[in-house]
Amino acid sequence: MNLILLGPPGAGKGTQAEGIAKKRGLIQLSTGDMLRQAVKAGTPVGQEASVIMEAGGLVPDHVVIKIIAERIALPDCAEGFILDGFPRTLKQAAALDELLTSQGKKIDAVIELKVNDAALIDRISGRYVCANCGASYHDTSCKPKVEGVCDRCGGKDFIRRPDDNPETVKNRLMAYYRETAPLIGYYFAKGKLHSVDGMAPIADVAAQVDGVLNTLAAP
Ligand code: AP5
Repeated sequence: MNLILLGPPGAGKGTQAEGIAKKRGLIQLSTGDMLRQAVKAGTPVGQEASVIMEAGGLVPDHVVIKIIAERIALPDCAEGFILDGFPRTLKQAAALDELLTSQGKKIDAVIELKVNDAALIDRISGRYVCANCGASYHDTSCKPKVEGVCDRCGGKDFIRRPDDNPETVKNRLMAYYRETAPLIGYYFAKGKLHSVDGMAPIADVAAQVDGVLNTLAAP
């Protein structure tokens, strides 16, 4: 099963993608995480991306398309993947279609997480991530099971993302409405779009997504 999670910054794409990947044995492909790793490693892609990401803009299409094309070609993606944060423009969506068609694959469903803008600001300003593995938490709605210890890797250092400040968040939201929101219509027209209420608590959103995926999996 190959899936796309679609939604504005802070909608819960990363949170839901991690749960779905674990439950369904899919590979989670987050372009945001991949770019942050490149920034950390100081690669040429990371150097190009860091200024853009800190300003809340979108990294050029050709850069992220190349990253995803190389990653999807790896053998671990053969059994299915979930894209979190890609595609983000119509050009990326068209490139993804072309890439998958050339490999005899397709997208089975696009899950849109619908969330109010005001809630997004609250979620992003309360978010902190594990400095080691990037797992995402929230000051009130999603704390680690053991305080101060990452559920995923056991790390004890947490940081706030440099692009999670009020000014950058506004730019990220504008980039979403300008460049990414048209994908809702694009995938609706292809009969792939499934919208869920992303305002519900995390477990309830996961249950809605599960319901959609069970329908797809049914014979
Ligand atoms: P990226 O890392 O993809 O950021 P984003 O899309 O802005 O999404 P976020 O990671 O902020 O939010 P999310 O939806 O994953 O929410 P989360 O689950 O963490 O991209 C960063 C940057 O990289 C971009 O701005 C761009 O510059 C660049 N980039 C990446 N991909 C690109 C591409 N394809 N093309 C060009 N540029 C690209 O949840 C947020 C918080 O809310 C957490 O604290 C969480 O615990 C909490 N939460 C989650 N769900 C709920 C819930 N149901 N109720 C209450 N709280 C919740």
